[in-house]
Amino acid sequence: MGPVASVVGGYLAMHTLGTGIRRYTPPTVMDFTRSGGALATSAAVFLENLGWPAAEVEEVLHEYREVSERLVRRYAEIELFYPRTHGVEAETSAVLYGLNRLLKPQSVVETGVADGRSSWLILAALERNGQGRLHSFDINRTAGRLVGQHPQWRLEILDRKEPEASLAHALQRVGPIDLFFHDSDHLYLPQLFEYSQVWPRMTEGGVFASDDVNCSRAFLDFCQERGQRPRFLFDSRKITGAVRLPGARSVQQGQLVG
Ligand SMILES: C[S@@+](CC[C@H](N)C(=O)[O-])C[C@H]1O[C@@H](n2cnc3c(N)ncnc32)[C@H](O)[C@@H]1O
Repeated sequence: MGPVASVVGGYLAMHTLGTGIRRYTPPTVMDFTRSGGALATSAAVFLENLGWPAAEVEEVLHEYREVSERLVRRYAEIELFYPRTHGVEAETSAVLYGLNRLLKPQSVVETGVADGRSSWLILAALERNGQGRLHSFDINRTAGRLVGQHPQWRLEILDRKEPEASLAHALQRVGPIDLFFHDSDHLYLPQLFEYSQVWPRMTEGGVFASDDVNCSRAFLDFCQERGQRPRFLFDSRKITGAVRLPGARSVQQGQLVG
């Protein structure tokens, strides 16, 4: 090998190694502050950072108190299959209810159901909205016990040997997405795959959100490549990120229903 070839080879090897290390190293707090998006530690501030007026946020979070009490009672009724720590955390729970009440989506997609805490909260809001459908995806047949059945819910179990191809196929049937929430496989490449499948299907004014954005740099990288400045919610142990797309829905701050 000549000197030029060995320098180029060395550079490529270092570059590949650097990219690999970067992919498998979780982001630091500094990475979130550098991303330029506002940081919050409460559901209220996070929803306001996404552009909703404080008075509307306060109203839906007031509603959420009764909803969260109902969820506590629901937990007492069933036997759980997953550790409680799999479910979305306290502030993210309030966000999921509030966001669905504020946005009034027609079509919500979530990946990662487990016992169904996030699904139950989203459906509580859609039910109160009197419209909208939740499409949930998991690879495990035991998923969704907290919800059981709901007329506004479609739970689909993906082929666990080929979850990516299976999700890509299913999303074609779902059509446009107003609200996306990732909470499935939190490794870099699976996260990036889901984001890239969902992003082109997002509607104007929709919200693109992900739990566990602290597990890998996928959400930060994905948003940076698209010139997006996400908002972040630092919950107890995990970080949730979200981008609110510009468009019609953003200016239609509808009245709360119900
Ligand atoms: C953190 S839990 C979801 C918690 C749920 N969102 C909640 O709030 O209760 C992760 C779930 O993702 C599922 N999962 C793992 N890999 C997946 C994949 N590639 N596609 C869809 N679901 C996946 C697991 O079976 C598990 O139920």
